[in-house]
Amino acid sequence: MHLPLRSPLFDDVYFCAESGLEETRHVFLKGNGLPEMWRGATHFTIFETGFGTGLNFLATWALFESTAAPGQNLDFISFEKYPLDPETIRKALGHWAGDLGALRLELFLNAKGRDFDAPRPDGNTVRLRIIEGDINDTLPLFQTERSADVWFLDGFSPAKNPQMWTPRLYENMARLSRPGTRVATFTVAGAVREGLTQAGFRVEKAPGFGRKRHMTQGVFKG
Ligand SMILES: C[S@@+](CC[C@H](N)C(=O)[O-])C[C@H]1O[C@@H](n2cnc3c(N)ncnc32)[C@H](O)[C@@H]1O
Repeated sequence: MHLPLRSPLFDDVYFCAESGLEETRHVFLKGNGLPEMWRGATHFTIFETGFGTGLNFLATWALFESTAAPGQNLDFISFEKYPLDPETIRKALGHWAGDLGALRLELFLNAKGRDFDAPRPDGNTVRLRIIEGDINDTLPLFQTERSADVWFLDGFSPAKNPQMWTPRLYENMARLSRPGTRVATFTVAGAVREGLTQAGFRVEKAPGFGRKRHMTQGVFKG
């Protein structure tokens, strides 16, 4: 078992103890219908609440590299209030360097702190943008030409981090979504499901990862 990184501030883990990478793949990738969702898209945009160690980003990038066709581009836009330093990330993710791609991990760690453009072999890009600050302040101000194709609704558990999981967050997720935009999250907390529903997402429970019986996935109805 890989000892997961823990936040003393939130008294919660960044990813699960059994297998953070498998959890990411189950909850955020499979839970959002990836890679099928990006099939045929010239530009695919993922928004994430809580960048943390970048495990979700790196797992997404690895999947994109192995499944995307030439001519496809990935934008990954993540919101983070407490950015981690590269050394902490290196220690937290080193265990998965093989699965995530050692070269990708190094590229990412060396670029940390800046917007990050990784050229793909076919000349296109995987672009990471980290928006620093409290998401309830930064997301409402965020403007973009392209709406979200999927949301990774991460962040520490709603019980331990209720300040992040607000109606303001869900309303701004809706503002940046289009009909058909998908969302996935590890939690099935009633307030989260209700908030997403009120904002226009149709949500359902799906099998959770590891010890968690359920997770939530949804689609924006518009
Ligand atoms: C469970 S971790 C995310 C794990 C991450 N997705 C990964 O791949 O490692 C939750 C993250 O949300 C961030 N966070 C918590 N509250 C936040 C807020 N109000 N605004 C922005 N980020 C927040 C924390 O600092 C932490 O990095």
